[in-house]
Amino acid sequence: MKHPLIVGNWKLNGNKNTITNLIIALVNNLSNISKCNIAVAPPVMYLDIVRHYLLDSHIQLCAQNVDVHFSGSFTGDISAEMLKDLHTRYVIIGHSERRIHHKENDVYIAKKFSILKKIGLIPILCIGENKNEYDSGYTQSICINQIKTITKLIGVEALKNSVIAYEPIWAIGSGNSASPENVQAVHKFIRDYIASCDVSVANTITMQYGGSVTPENVIQFLNQKDIDGVLVGAASLKADSFAAIVQIAEKYEQLHHS
Ligand code: 13P
Repeated sequence: MKHPLIVGNWKLNGNKNTITNLIIALVNNLSNISKCNIAVAPPVMYLDIVRHYLLDSHIQLCAQNVDVHFSGSFTGDISAEMLKDLHTRYVIIGHSERRIHHKENDVYIAKKFSILKKIGLIPILCIGENKNEYDSGYTQSICINQIKTITKLIGVEALKNSVIAYEPIWAIGSGNSASPENVQAVHKFIRDYIASCDVSVANTITMQYGGSVTPENVIQFLNQKDIDGVLVGAASLKADSFAAIVQIAEKYEQLHHS
């Protein structure tokens, strides 16, 4: 049985002082956790500061982005090797905020996926539909197409042991999370699709839900068979609420899978 994966995506928030306080509080509040995998994704320039506080902790480091090149004349970019150098374990790619604000498309995201696999970092591939697509009933086809680009360009094997985060765009930062039953249906559809390509790969994939996850609603998501964790935005910026989410997941695991 996989442990649930709880990741806090801090996005473009914080400064040296608030981030230091946040990570110190999380390390203290989460020292008892043994049944969840936890990671935090600070803004890239604070990765090293956060890493310093994680040396004796089982909280892992996650990056919010990576470039498609290993090195060279690419001003302002950050390579997978640099992230690995700082002991980063996970890297978020394909987040809708990068698709929207930086015009990143599926082919470009597949390149990032491929680079991460080559270097041995774990991609957290974000997928999801916007409100219009949701209203028109296109959720499943949008999600599958986003994954298909990767399976077509680099093969289904590349998905092995990776993380897929289903984040409906309309649920992000809106306070309106998707219904746990709908998320379960989407996750099952995705897992079945990957299984139709390769069953053994499908079983290794961790599927997270993201979009207005809070301590109040997280249990309903974890209760679903195909939801293996959550990707948390706003609620991960406060130590109390992120720690509460992880503690709820820990208790759930103790009750159901020990
Ligand atoms: P919120 O939890 O703030 O909705 O953000 C979700 C998200 O985008 C995580 O990557």
